[in-house]
Amino acid sequence: MFSQTQIGALLHEEHLQTIGALQRLEEFLAKQGSKRQPDAAQPEVRKLLEAMLALAAEVDRHYGFEEEHLFTLLSNAGEVGMVGLLTDEHAVIKPLAGELAGQARTALQTGFSAETWRVFHGQGMELCEREIFHIQKEEMGLLAAISMLVEPDEDARLAELYRNLPKH
Ligand SMILES: [Fe+2]
Ligand SMILES: [Fe+2]
Repeated sequence: MFSQTQIGALLHEEHLQTIGALQRLEEFLAKQGSKRQPDAAQPEVRKLLEAMLALAAEVDRHYGFEEEHLFTLLSNAGEVGMVGLLTDEHAVIKPLAGELAGQARTALQTGFSAETWRVFHGQGMELCEREIFHIQKEEMGLLAAISMLVEPDEDARLAELYRNLPKH
C-alpha cells in the first residue's frame, strides 16, 4: 500500500470501492446466467443497474483525471511503457462502460429482452474482468510510481484538484 501521497491514497480508496462494485456486478451476472433475463422491475435488479450508471460515471471521472494529470507527469519522468499500457486499457474500458450504462438506462425504463440481456451479460462480464485487472495493475505500478515521483507540493495540488472534481 502506498499511502505516502494524498493523491495515491485517494485513488487507492476509489479503486477499492470500484472493485467492490464490480464484484457485486460479476456475482449477479454469474448467478443470473446469460440465458434468462432478470426482471428489471425487481428492486435488486434496479439497484444493480443504477450501480452500473454510477460505475460508468466514475470511470469517466477517475480515468479522465489519471490521463489528464498523472499520465503526462509519469511519461515525463520516463514511465512511458506503463503509461502506454494503462492508456490502452482505458481506451477499451471507457467505451465499454459507457455502452453498458446506455443499456442499463434503457433496461431501467423498458426492461430486458432475452437478446438485450444476453448482450448486457456478455459485455458486463468483460467489463468486470478487464477493469479489475486494470485496477490491480495500477495498484502495483501506478501507485508506486506516484509515491516515488510526485513531490509534496504537487501532491497537495493534485489531491485538492481531485477532491473538487464533481462527483457525477
Ligand atoms: Fe486507470
Ligand atoms: Fe485508477
